Amino acid sequence: MKAIEIAKNIYSVGVIDWNIRDFHGYSTERGSSYNAYLIVDEKIVLIDTVKKEFTDQMLENISSVIDPKRIDIVISNHTEMDHSGGLPRVMHYIGPDKPVYCSKMGFKNLSKHFPSGLNLREVKNGEELNIGKRTLTFLETRMLHWPDSMFTYDKTDKILFSSDAFGQHYAGFEIFDDKVGEEIMHHAKKYFANILLLYAPLILKLVEKVTEMGLEIKMICPDHGIIWRSDPSRIINAYVEWSKQEGHKKAVVVYDTMWHSTERMAEAIAEGIASQGVEARPIHIRSSDRSDIMTEALNAKAIVFGSPTLNNTIFPTVADVLTYMKGLKPKNKIGAAFGSYGWSGEAVAEMRGHLENMGMEIVDPGLRIQYVPDEQGRAEAYEFGQKIGKAVIDAL
Ligand code: FEO
Repeated sequence: MKAIEIAKNIYSVGVIDWNIRDFHGYSTERGSSYNAYLIVDEKIVLIDTVKKEFTDQMLENISSVIDPKRIDIVISNHTEMDHSGGLPRVMHYIGPDKPVYCSKMGFKNLSKHFPSGLNLREVKNGEELNIGKRTLTFLETRMLHWPDSMFTYDKTDKILFSSDAFGQHYAGFEIFDDKVGEEIMHHAKKYFANILLLYAPLILKLVEKVTEMGLEIKMICPDHGIIWRSDPSRIINAYVEWSKQEGHKKAVVVYDTMWHSTERMAEAIAEGIASQGVEARPIHIRSSDRSDIMTEALNAKAIVFGSPTLNNTIFPTVADVLTYMKGLKPKNKIGAAFGSYGWSGEAVAEMRGHLENMGMEIVDPGLRIQYVPDEQGRAEAYEFGQKIGKAVIDAL
């Protein structure tokens, strides 16, 4: 792959990872990319690198523009190894004494990743770096999504190099939003729901701060997926909407089942929810990746969990999704739990406990049915769903 000029003398030099399908537990059905950017000015600057195993490919891309040894400065917006893994090899190749600019926490974190030594230069929030015709500004974005994360803003071209923020796990030769179309919003939403959701309050503050600063943004260049150039405000507005977590007239019914009894309950509950004019999505956990469940849950007002009781506790796959969801800290949700059981039936109360711990408003103590739901059991499940549907309507 050759470098692609995205603005005068600014190049996308990253790589596409076509075949990755599992990104530390997040399903990447469309692969991903590790974006890096080269600015050719009086000083030549490389922003971020790529995963270690793709480093030579990135150096080849750079070579289609300049000899990589001419790079004067490397900026590391983020320490996570999908962006820093290539740093040691790049610095070895271009000259180990050349500076690597990073945030205060980047300094600490990069030192712990690469103790053998990089020439790290700590920059402060708002600090500027003149590289010739251009001036770059560094903006700390702590915890979006690591303590070291920062943005680099090119004042001249009004380009924001946003690290992980506004990214999407998407592999394709079309590198601009206007070349992909509507599909990209799904990938951006999935990325937000699974990587950034727990920092939603910080995102709202950051957008406020950027608005106050009057930062004009013509292009957003994230470290994954496409570049937002046709209307960058679209993804910023989507981030604001997702961060607010107001919830739509929608409920997800997330369940696992051993002998289809909990599944029958899930279907009747979903039907009861839908009878109230609320969109209901039953999701069998073993047919969906946890990251897709999280994406569906992002704009749902209600999250309903169903589990059989296995060995006196929650089914392991359900516990997995509950643990994952708890870490992402969804807000403003209504919760409920249900399940079929044989003789002890602890799962429902345990799930309710997890939902309460997540701060969800519990609309019912929970529905348990012994063994196989009969006609009366299915009617109870339907009514349980109706109650959830009504609660969603009342809450909006
Ligand atoms: Fe794409 Fe946080 O790394």
